[in-house]
Amino acid sequence: MDFLSKIALALDLPSEKDLIHILTTLEPQPKIVKIGLEVVYALGLENSLGLITKFLPNADIFLDLKLHDIPNTVAKAVLALKKFKVKYLTVHSLGGQFMLEKALEKTQNSGINLVAVTVLTSHSEENLKKEFDLPDNFQLFDLSEKLTSLAVKAGLEYIVCSAQESKLLKQKFFHLKTITPGIRLKTEQNGISDDQARIVTPSMAFNEAKADIIVIGRPIYQAPNPAAAWTQLLKTCDSF
Ligand code: C5P
Repeated sequence: MDFLSKIALALDLPSEKDLIHILTTLEPQPKIVKIGLEVVYALGLENSLGLITKFLPNADIFLDLKLHDIPNTVAKAVLALKKFKVKYLTVHSLGGQFMLEKALEKTQNSGINLVAVTVLTSHSEENLKKEFDLPDNFQLFDLSEKLTSLAVKAGLEYIVCSAQESKLLKQKFFHLKTITPGIRLKTEQNGISDDQARIVTPSMAFNEAKADIIVIGRPIYQAPNPAAAWTQLLKTCDSF
């Protein structure tokens, strides 16, 4: 399988120098590059998109802005983003079905795939229960399923979810495509989960969770040798 086109490299590097360094050191070149809030706020949207296009002209851009506001505002934000060469754009499913529908309408003829973020991978069932004072029988999966169903009803094809939910969600929603962050090369290694609560290995994500795209960031760009970590990731995927 062509794993390279199923790996979104998250580059949360708010320094132009660091960003260029990673963009120019990985071989083979990443096919999907994800940038989000840190990079866009630090370097500017046009500048950061321009840098990716300059150094990786063939890469698809995943713009992880996690839009969440009233429907009119989100729809107009999507409309404003239409002029950029973006393949994936995230919105929060929590914004509701109407917001998702309005946003999707504005992607027409743009090449943008609108991606609904369900439950962040930094949340765990326990911490959601505690923070929101939820009943003991609260199940994170139910929330994830609800948020996915809003996205599907609104007509979106892609969601972001944890690999821990991906397989079941794909069984329930037939045409759903899942994008799963929270990927770590070895789940048993202490201290590598960073702020992620629901983490899995690439093998679990692709083989068990049936993820269509995995998102991985810090295990690559924060590795002592990012090029070696990238090679190792690709080798691991090729060995499945
Ligand atoms: O560095 P790490 O591999 O944890 O990066 C994961 C990336 O995926 C980050 O850019 C984060 O914003 C994003 N993300 C996530 N969980 C979600 C949605 C997006 O971790 N539910």
